[in-house]
Amino acid sequence: MTEMLETDLPSFPMARECPMHPPAEYREIRAQEPVSRVRMPDGTIAWLVTGHELSRQLLADPRVSSDRLHPNFPLALTTEQRKAFQDNNRLNFRKSMIGLDAPEHGAHRKMLISEFSVRRIASMRPRIQEIVDQCIDDMLAAEQPADLVEHLSLAVPSLVICELLGVPYEQRHGFHEWTRKLISRSTSGAERREAAELLNDFLGDLVTQKEQGEPTDDVIGRLIARNRETPVMTHDEIVGTAILLLIAGHETTANMISLGTVALLENPEQKAQVVADSSLLPSAIEEMLRYFTIVESATARVATADIELGGVTIRKDQGVIVSGLAADWDSDVFENPEQLDFHRGARHHVAFGYGVHQCLGQNLARLELEIVFETLFRRVPTLALAVPAADLPYKDDAGIYGIYRVPVHF
Ligand code: HEM
Repeated sequence: MTEMLETDLPSFPMARECPMHPPAEYREIRAQEPVSRVRMPDGTIAWLVTGHELSRQLLADPRVSSDRLHPNFPLALTTEQRKAFQDNNRLNFRKSMIGLDAPEHGAHRKMLISEFSVRRIASMRPRIQEIVDQCIDDMLAAEQPADLVEHLSLAVPSLVICELLGVPYEQRHGFHEWTRKLISRSTSGAERREAAELLNDFLGDLVTQKEQGEPTDDVIGRLIARNRETPVMTHDEIVGTAILLLIAGHETTANMISLGTVALLENPEQKAQVVADSSLLPSAIEEMLRYFTIVESATARVATADIELGGVTIRKDQGVIVSGLAADWDSDVFENPEQLDFHRGARHHVAFGYGVHQCLGQNLARLELEIVFETLFRRVPTLALAVPAADLPYKDDAGIYGIYRVPVHF
């Protein structure tokens, strides 16, 4: 490894030249040092893993922690934002599986695993289809250009997760806004604290109501009932879990719907393939998940022991960012990664992470994406962007990549 002065280290996150592609530097870094050092916005130094196999190796290693309160946990935040993030996590945010390690992590995840099984999610198909049709009706009734994000991308996963969790959809303006502030790198520490507090109170009250009343037939209601039989979580941890599910359940899939729609509109040949043969959609969706790998820095960790990886030693207590986006563009594994190839068989991408924390909601996300793309392009064959794709407002400032607004004609 070439020794670099700490002042010369590249900064993370890195800027994109093309909104549809990862930062170009990833390719060079991966070729030279697939486990290299970067400087975070708060000045701390972390490791960055950019190779596909090395990423899976690290995420499957039991000697890493997801504890976001660890002083060296790499967060793409300034010092002020980091302080607010960690204070928020001391409230309820930490008390959910994404920030827990074994054995608590497994115990929490087990409480919810049956809710997100392939079979359980498949049984939701007719209802999700209804929701998608309703949202498309609303979009078609709107004045043109209509915003795809408002009418479809954000509406579908929000309606689905609200129904699933038993959260009132009428409250969406609140939780959409709080989520936006919490995942944006442009919001101040004070704004983050306020948003976290409001979200915390909103779901705290809802969980309390469900705990006090008759058991409700939704994921949170059933979690409360299950927890009464076999106590695993405290009240605060149930609130933390509800926050995690609500944020992860709408913001991620929403961005994939927007980016996937733009990608299909910009690649008419690929779009024609899925329109002609909808059995190609599942593999097309895996390819879109790989191509965009929208959740990049959530797969960060702190080493709990010295770990040898890709020719370097990650020391105990050092932070590591596993860039799924860089890994999913590793040309040793995905030939010509810049080509959107629906036939490549991309299912081994790491867009849903890897190892014990691999996305709990992935079956739901896949089903929503499949129904949305199939229905949208069947029902609205004239769909077109109202502005050039390059001019769309991409979420360059957010922890989850996506697009803020997508004006469309039909
Ligand atoms: C974890 C991505 C949709 C719930 C993760 C992780 C990634 C991810 C990369 C791993 C984080 C880590 O390693 O620390 C995505 C993407 C989605 C999506 C790209 C959509 C396209 C969803 C949905 C839900 C959900 C719809 C819920 C309903 C979760 C939960 C975890 C998680 C609960 C934490 C799992 C654990 O710590 O064991 N997701 N996600 N996600 N996701 Fe998703």
